[in-house]
Amino acid sequence: MKRPIAQLVGTGRYTPEKIFDNAYFETILDTSDEWIRERSGIRERRIAEEHETLAYMGAAACRQVLDEAGLTPLDVDGIVLGTASPDRLLPSTACDLQAELGAHNAAAFDVAAACSGFLYSLSVAEGMIASGTAENVLVVGGDRLSKIADYTDRTTAVLFGDGAGATLVQPAGNGKRGILSTYLKTDGRLAELLYRPGGGANHPPDEQMLQDRTYFIRMAGREVFKNAVRSMADACDRALEKAGVHGDEVDVLIPHQANIRIIEATAKHAHVPMDKVYVNVDRYGNTSAASIPIALDECVREGRIKEGSLVLFVAFGGGFTWASVLVRW
Ligand code: ACO
Repeated sequence: MKRPIAQLVGTGRYTPEKIFDNAYFETILDTSDEWIRERSGIRERRIAEEHETLAYMGAAACRQVLDEAGLTPLDVDGIVLGTASPDRLLPSTACDLQAELGAHNAAAFDVAAACSGFLYSLSVAEGMIASGTAENVLVVGGDRLSKIADYTDRTTAVLFGDGAGATLVQPAGNGKRGILSTYLKTDGRLAELLYRPGGGANHPPDEQMLQDRTYFIRMAGREVFKNAVRSMADACDRALEKAGVHGDEVDVLIPHQANIRIIEATAKHAHVPMDKVYVNVDRYGNTSAASIPIALDECVREGRIKEGSLVLFVAFGGGFTWASVLVRW
């Protein structure tokens, strides 16, 4: 097993107070609580109010991490934000987050890898530590999907929620604690199974875009589902193999929270029993890049992750992108 280069120090999260439960969607769409629960496992999701921008939510999660680590925002030299729903297209939301947090010494940028964004960002932060570019990197996963979900489309609207989570990445000490292995993978040929057709430089906003609603997320759910099951299983194998670890040694599996059926299939493949798998998709829905760091923060605060715990993260999202990271806490 390689000696870790970087370690995760502390966690934080921000989730809006406002809740849309399944009953709400019954009032605006041809859907039912039963359908949503059986097909996805989701009961409710958090929805950001106007002032709860991605930068605001991300900064709140970061403040929690820094306070508990005994650091100030000026100690931070890197901010890497994984997101698929930036507050604006230019500059990156990480810049707005930096300003909101007052972390004026940090290099700040976004990573666009959809639901895999937090794990991709973690890998970038590990690289910054390895190269000596930074020593205190805030890694944030955040999304405000309610703003880019089409509330007239029952196949997507019911799935998504808002929130942010964060951790601090620092050089590993001499012990075993830290990132043990990382696996990242992409298949851009499948991009149009989960995408936003309009709004970028290829299709700048116009009347037609508003009429066709191409600004919103479109997803071929069944295809995404099949690919997610296959890819997350593969990703688990790769991170474990690289570290020379078997699934039954994992203390906590934190999968991306998109669908309980995908989570159960992933856990089964990785030989991790469900009592070691953290699930909160019922309470938050799919918060994209935020789902893993929110779940991580809950696990740490509930005492499910303790010093020495072996934690496996696995994600899948638009791109397609997928990823896994194995960490000794
Ligand atoms: N309420 C009621 N019926 C619905 C709804 C709804 N909200 N949505 C779809 N249906 C209908 C469909 O129209 C379809 O009807 P039909 O058979 O008459 O055509 C039927 O239910 C079955 O639809 P499927 O899409 O086959 O349902 P499935 O069991 O695949 O569940 C779901 C759909 C929940 C979207 C699932 O496919 C899924 O979770 N996909 C993966 C999502 C994911 O992992 N995303 C991760 C990345 S997200 C990111 O990167 C931002």
